[in-house]
Amino acid sequence: MGSTHIPVLLDEVVQGLIRPEYRLFVDATAGGGSHTYNILNAYPNLRAYAIDLDETALVAARERLAPFQGRVTLKRANFSELKQILGDEGILAVDAVLFDLGVSTFQLEGERGFSFKDTHALDMRMDQRQHQTAQQVVNSYTYEALKRIIAEYGEEWRAARIAAAIVAERRKTPLTSASALADVVAKAARRTGKIHPATKTFQAIRMEVNQELKNLATGLAAAIDLLAPRGRVGVISFHSLEDRMVKTIFKAAPELTVLTKKPIRPGRPEILRNKRSRSAKLRIAEKIYEAVA
Ligand SMILES: C[S@@+](CC[C@H](N)C(=O)[O-])C[C@H]1O[C@@H](n2cnc3c(N)ncnc32)[C@H](O)[C@@H]1O
Repeated sequence: MGSTHIPVLLDEVVQGLIRPEYRLFVDATAGGGSHTYNILNAYPNLRAYAIDLDETALVAARERLAPFQGRVTLKRANFSELKQILGDEGILAVDAVLFDLGVSTFQLEGERGFSFKDTHALDMRMDQRQHQTAQQVVNSYTYEALKRIIAEYGEEWRAARIAAAIVAERRKTPLTSASALADVVAKAARRTGKIHPATKTFQAIRMEVNQELKNLATGLAAAIDLLAPRGRVGVISFHSLEDRMVKTIFKAAPELTVLTKKPIRPGRPEILRNKRSRSAKLRIAEKIYEAVA
């Protein structure tokens, strides 16, 4: 495995999400475990559940969190099932939940077709147990469906042209590698700035394969329900649709007070250190009372 995953907005999360009196923290997106590592390090009385649906992420997190054995429980699961996962452990309330959305460096640099340079299979599943892959989406979705996904999730104005190019190419040969898909997109949509012309299409296909917006809506609602009074939920997002969803869900929950009137963004030193942090936005909310069902 190549470079390690650099946690985004780390100090802001450690200081802004956790209060000293908290006892139970849930990392809904454990990844390589760095956020949890730093949180457990800073708050010696805290215990944590670290959840991820990707087996390779959990292997990395288990190694990273080994010094906290006894204080952390790792679970391979989808955060959309947060209530059930914690309920099975007899946990009905938690003090803080963190969602750090998107992909980790482990996933981007692995061989699962997350990156357009990858010559391996067009997979893009975060959870290897899941049935649907990017190859299936790209080769079986209608032109209309591809256009909608690329336009909506990719926020790509050239979606119609790209979807048409994919459909024309797959009639000749099915698209089976990430690099093949990237080539088709690059031919249909020429490079305009610094970013690769396939970046937005890849993001869109990945979000569809992993049902990222749907999972966020369910997972975030569950986290809010699970919070104990004075508990906090924090979300780091990298996509405007995700950020909008977080903002809307926070605003619509009368039991929450939003602590970040504007999202927290990384400063220039962090962006220079970690380019991936560029588009990150952190929103935090606190539960002020228990909603009555
Ligand atoms: C940006 S990484 C998190 C990095 C982590 N905060 C760290 O410090 O290393 C996002 C992680 O969320 C996981 N993930 C994405 N969607 C998920 C879901 N619905 N349920 C559980 N984990 C998910 C991905 O597999 C990935 O490992």
